[in-house]
Amino acid sequence: MSADPPLGLLAELTHRCPLHCPYCSNPVELVRRERELTTDQWRSVFTQARALGVLQVHLSGGEPLARRDLPELAAHAAGLGCYVNLVTSGLGLTKERMTELAARGIDHVQLSVQAADRQRADAIAGTRAAAHKRSAAEAVRAVGLPLTVNVVLHRGNLDEVGAIIELAEELGADRLELANAQYYGWALRNRDSLMPTRGQLDAADTVVRAAKARLAGRMEVIHVIADYHDSYPKPCMHGWGARQLTVAPDGTVLPCPSAHVISTLTFDNATTRPLAEIWYESESFTAYRGEDWMRDPCRTCDRRGVDFGGCRCQAFLLTGAAENTDPVCPKSPHHGVVTGILADSASRQVLVGVAELGFRMRSEER
Ligand code: SF4
Ligand code: FES
Repeated sequence: MSADPPLGLLAELTHRCPLHCPYCSNPVELVRRERELTTDQWRSVFTQARALGVLQVHLSGGEPLARRDLPELAAHAAGLGCYVNLVTSGLGLTKERMTELAARGIDHVQLSVQAADRQRADAIAGTRAAAHKRSAAEAVRAVGLPLTVNVVLHRGNLDEVGAIIELAEELGADRLELANAQYYGWALRNRDSLMPTRGQLDAADTVVRAAKARLAGRMEVIHVIADYHDSYPKPCMHGWGARQLTVAPDGTVLPCPSAHVISTLTFDNATTRPLAEIWYESESFTAYRGEDWMRDPCRTCDRRGVDFGGCRCQAFLLTGAAENTDPVCPKSPHHGVVTGILADSASRQVLVGVAELGFRMRSEER
């Protein structure tokens, strides 16, 4: 199957992070600092990615500000002509650092917010993070860069979605991404505590719709609805190996940020194989690209060009085989796994205090 060049590179510069969010997308086995790529190795990754066609570089983590060479890396990506996006918790993003990063070529900042209520936000982050969000947002606005606020929604903060939207307005966000938690890695471990009720989702949906209408033309509001509760699977990654590649802190190249959960695949490293070869020819990138790998019911389904059979990581985690139809799909022979999880979740009471949510924090297992 031939492939188009990738549009984006998610560069996970480090897994080090001052926050310990219970839905963290980083792997349960974090890459240690001593195994992180060097500045020169990252430069080589960016140069190869640009040659491959990449136009957008997302500098992410962990917390990318934990890398002292962040300004040099931003400058290198910008010098190649890429649009450079900084994905940050905001901790450590002072006016001075933001001014330097903007001067080196950062084009856009994505700032994570855990909740509107400070105590709740700090409890979710596992550290005193909330107070830093305002100063970080001010620093971004002071240099005149566009700001996106990202919020992962779950049982512990869905009820305050209206206040979260107001906070994003106060922070001066140009865009707000409200994404319900996806259950991989840490979020899968904490799924019982994170899973919202149908009532919570419906109430939040009403609030978000009203806010979208009210804020039209001022702040774009993106709402990614809860996967398990949806009627059909999400078109994950817009198809496997179709638009974006992820490079982990140690140079492992992944077709999606969670792909490491698929233990039946082997992944190449950017330090030992050219990025172009990995994109076009490697086992991991070609495994589920296009439609040839599909089994029934996806193989003959008229939605296969819409959702690409859903999410490969979710299929692997919930059915044991990544080539199975995503079990969120009602046509999947494994759909009962998802309906069973939802029924189990609905039978539990909604807990309102974060202390009662019982998250397993990353810090507990490091
Ligand atoms: Fe999508 Fe496959 Fe379900 Fe069809 S059968 S809707 S292609 S996941
Ligand atoms: Fe990996 Fe969906 S998260 S394919």
